[in-house]
Amino acid sequence: MAIDLTSEQKDIGKANFERAVGSLAGGGDKAVTRRDFMKGLVSAAAVTPVAAAAYFGYEFSKVQGKPVKAALIGAGDEGGVLVGEHNPNYLEFVAICDIRPTNQKRIFEGQPNHIRKGFRRIYGEDAEKKIQVFDDYKKMLDERKDIEAVVIALPLHLHAPAAIDCMKAGKHVLCEKLMAWNVTQCKDMIQTAEDTDRILAIGHQRHYSLLYAHGLEVLKSGVLGDIKHIRALWHRNNSWPADGGGKDPQTGQPMLRDSWRPPIADKDRAALESRIRQLGYKNMEELVRWRLYNRTGGGLMAELGSHQLDACSIFLGKVHPLAVTGYGGKIFYHDDREVEDHVFVTFEFPGKNYYGDPGRKEIKDKNDVVIVTYSSINTNSFEPYGECVMGTRGTLVVEEEQKAMLYQERGGGVVGRSTAVTVTAGGGGQPVLDASATSGGPARQAQAVGQTAMGSGPVSRGYREEMEHFAYCIRMHQQAESPDEKTRWRLEPRCHGKVAMADAIIALTANLAMKNHERIEFKSEWFEPKSNAVPDPKMIPEEVKA
Ligand SMILES: NC(=O)c1ccc[n+]([C@@H]2O[C@H](COP(=O)([O-])OP(=O)(O)OC[C@H]3O[C@@H](n4cnc5c(N)ncnc54)[C@H](O)[C@@H]3O)[C@@H](O)[C@H]2O)c1
Repeated sequence: MAIDLTSEQKDIGKANFERAVGSLAGGGDKAVTRRDFMKGLVSAAAVTPVAAAAYFGYEFSKVQGKPVKAALIGAGDEGGVLVGEHNPNYLEFVAICDIRPTNQKRIFEGQPNHIRKGFRRIYGEDAEKKIQVFDDYKKMLDERKDIEAVVIALPLHLHAPAAIDCMKAGKHVLCEKLMAWNVTQCKDMIQTAEDTDRILAIGHQRHYSLLYAHGLEVLKSGVLGDIKHIRALWHRNNSWPADGGGKDPQTGQPMLRDSWRPPIADKDRAALESRIRQLGYKNMEELVRWRLYNRTGGGLMAELGSHQLDACSIFLGKVHPLAVTGYGGKIFYHDDREVEDHVFVTFEFPGKNYYGDPGRKEIKDKNDVVIVTYSSINTNSFEPYGECVMGTRGTLVVEEEQKAMLYQERGGGVVGRSTAVTVTAGGGGQPVLDASATSGGPARQAQAVGQTAMGSGPVSRGYREEMEHFAYCIRMHQQAESPDEKTRWRLEPRCHGKVAMADAIIALTANLAMKNHERIEFKSEWFEPKSNAVPDPKMIPEEVKA
């Protein structure tokens, strides 16, 4: 992500970030603002899951002994990740539904040395006896009344119909991102959650990543100064021949190492090809490679960009963008795909003085904007993925959801990449980055607190915490006895419908801007669940007739 940093500079940046987190938590300079949530975090920081629960405000004791009975719909790649990451003390899977025989099998077996652990590694070798397999989710909803919640990891076009069916059947829903294929569907999902009094969570996992939470705290402290630019990207190189090479039988094109065009297993073809249209797909390609087609997917902005624009919106104080322009094209692949393989998008976000009132209605300084650029490409992975937040006093880089690095801007043309910094109180108590960090004393102490707060080992990307909090919200909701209490106890997941709808609006409007080659201004009513206004009124799902 940070192209020309040496490994030493990366280490310094990481230590800077840890010291900043530690200082803000009260581990370093006593004059720096202490934050209540951080105090809670640090006191509970011995083990990462405990720290995450403390940070995100949920308690194991509230669900202990009564994990939420759950079903998974869509047991593919991401379903496998969610199964591998879930904590069975919170969410106990009792059923799954998938139409592909190979994935029905893999979800139990998992993959060696992979985050997709499989049910057997979590529930024991007899997992098949405990978890019922369906190939029709409506039948599952009908037969298994004991299921309390459903986790949906289906192709994009099925998110809304499946989530709505599940909520109407009385289930709480955690649905993968992008929330839905169009914005009207997002609004229907929110309305259904309200009508059925079900909890609806959407799987933008960065809302449950401690790394991003800490990054936000560093940003909120103001140490980066005036932020004017965020550069976000997700770059891959899919130009290499796939393992085994060969040509795709359908297109005759060489098979490339493109995860969006996986091979179609003979076993799945044999089992499903004759009834593929009854199952709602045009052909086997559309089922297995749904990301490539407009009817079933939403392209790079839906799949990758939505995560990172979600992060940018969080970093900028959960604000909505003002406008978007972009270029996207199918400029590399010569196959039958309909979605772009390269996208380059520019968003204008409001800066901190853009609005004159907290309700963000009155514009005070229309020139105070933050420019967010986003690119996602398929032909070069020199910088893989991450976000770089650039302020007048410092830079924060988040790399691959695993590492955050902090650098101070320094006057006189000296760049701060090689400088150890810490957070100290500036004039008026405002925290500032200070290059006076030493190897001992408060700075070292703050770094130690920062490291503890971050935990050791690989950083959790947030899937586990997202599912734990979902279960916690369900239990808290159920424990309320009267309607009044229910309202009082209604805990929203951090990425609830309205939050996730904003991410969908951002991604889908960027797609429109690229398609129509125009600058589109975002309208506030699009973000209102009760308003019928949407950016994409012409996007109507195409029915597949069997
Ligand atoms: N949060 C993240 O970081 C993240 C990462 C990857 C994918 N995702 C999201 O997860 C979702 C699934 O992605 P994936 O990579 O697992 O795709 P996938 O194709 O590997 O899995 C989809 C599964 O759904 C099954 N399926 C399709 N139609 C069905 C139906 N009618 N009934 C039952 N099962 C059906 C397929 O057989 C397949 O097993 C997508 O929305 C994607 O955007 C999220």
